[in-house]
Amino acid sequence: MATDLPFPRQYGTELLVISRGRGVWLKDIAGKKYLDFAGGIAVNALGYGRSDLARVAAQQMRKLSHVSNLFTTEPALALGRLMLATGPYKFASVFFGNSGTEANEAALKYARLYSLRTRGPGHDRLLCFDNGFHGRTLGALSCTPSAKYQEPFQPLLPGVSVAPYNDVDALEQALDTHVAGVIVEVLQGEGGMRTMTPEFARALNERCRKTGSILIADEVQTGMGRTGFFYGSEAVELEPDIITLAKPIAGGLPLSAVLIPEKVHCLIHYGEHGTTFGGGPVTTAVAAKVWQLVSQPAFTERVRSRGELLRNELEAMKTRHKNVGAILGRGLLQGFEYTGGEVKDFLARLQAAGLLALRSGINVVRLAPPLIISEAEISKGVQIIEEALE
Ligand SMILES: Cc1ncc(COP(=O)(O)O)c(C=O)c1O
Repeated sequence: MATDLPFPRQYGTELLVISRGRGVWLKDIAGKKYLDFAGGIAVNALGYGRSDLARVAAQQMRKLSHVSNLFTTEPALALGRLMLATGPYKFASVFFGNSGTEANEAALKYARLYSLRTRGPGHDRLLCFDNGFHGRTLGALSCTPSAKYQEPFQPLLPGVSVAPYNDVDALEQALDTHVAGVIVEVLQGEGGMRTMTPEFARALNERCRKTGSILIADEVQTGMGRTGFFYGSEAVELEPDIITLAKPIAGGLPLSAVLIPEKVHCLIHYGEHGTTFGGGPVTTAVAAKVWQLVSQPAFTERVRSRGELLRNELEAMKTRHKNVGAILGRGLLQGFEYTGGEVKDFLARLQAAGLLALRSGINVVRLAPPLIISEAEISKGVQIIEEALE
């Protein structure tokens, strides 16, 4: 544990100092092993110690590491083409950024551009939902309606409305032609693990089609197989105009992507949005390898069956423990309400017992292991959780 830190405070007063990892296991500097059900906050989809990814990164570093957004590179072109060729949604282009929040910033800007250029001024509002989380830069933070994140940074972006999640009637009221963009998660990974209902997805599709508002699916946490579907939107038949991706995209390197439809792509002028580092050759070379692996149908099917096992084991655990409430989530992004006290104290107990997990909302324990986890490792993780409940 390190307490004397050279960083601004971010999460806790004490930080585990992790030195290496292999598969779904991590080791700290004292040599203690942890089964990782946190996955670097849903980033490390392919697990740790990947020599295939390391080889791609090292080769690309030797060849060319950066050229800026004044030029492009073969890995960026190859990744972009690969992403656009992957269904089921149809996109015309990809913007590469460096983080989830940056992808959402770009998506919100694109929604405003589209609105301005198709309808003129006065249709620039943004709509988000309670308990949503879209990032910590000022635009994305303005669409993250939680006092904890927003309060010290007021005033935020004007023109943002918040509607209740999964409330079809309230959506009718909140989503009108003044709204340029609607940003939503199909599974609220940070805000309590609620999943979007198919009825709400249908209402979002229909309402956005009617008002001309751009529907942005923030799949930073749910995208690329995590839910047992390649895009989490597929599970509820959401039809987003734009999808944002980040966390698992480049095997732990910082990269994000905004998938842009033709109707928006054709209206973006040169220089209206950009970033120096986004889509560099090293991150995109690694991301192409990751994409090839996780976009195989067999990979997502395997996540789905592992997710079912996790769900069954958590449901069984719930019957044996009064401190376990609802089982939430989908695929390998699941969790449970914990009613035995503060979740952070329970997570500390798990850590001491050799399992890393996450919090979601106030009272939910969130599990997001690497997607390559085996059945035996899932059972082992649930066993550690169950022992910690006793
Ligand atoms: C749904 C969602 N959107 C956006 C973000 C922000 O991503 P980043 O931390 O990479 O900026 C997160 C991070 O947890 C997230 O879960």
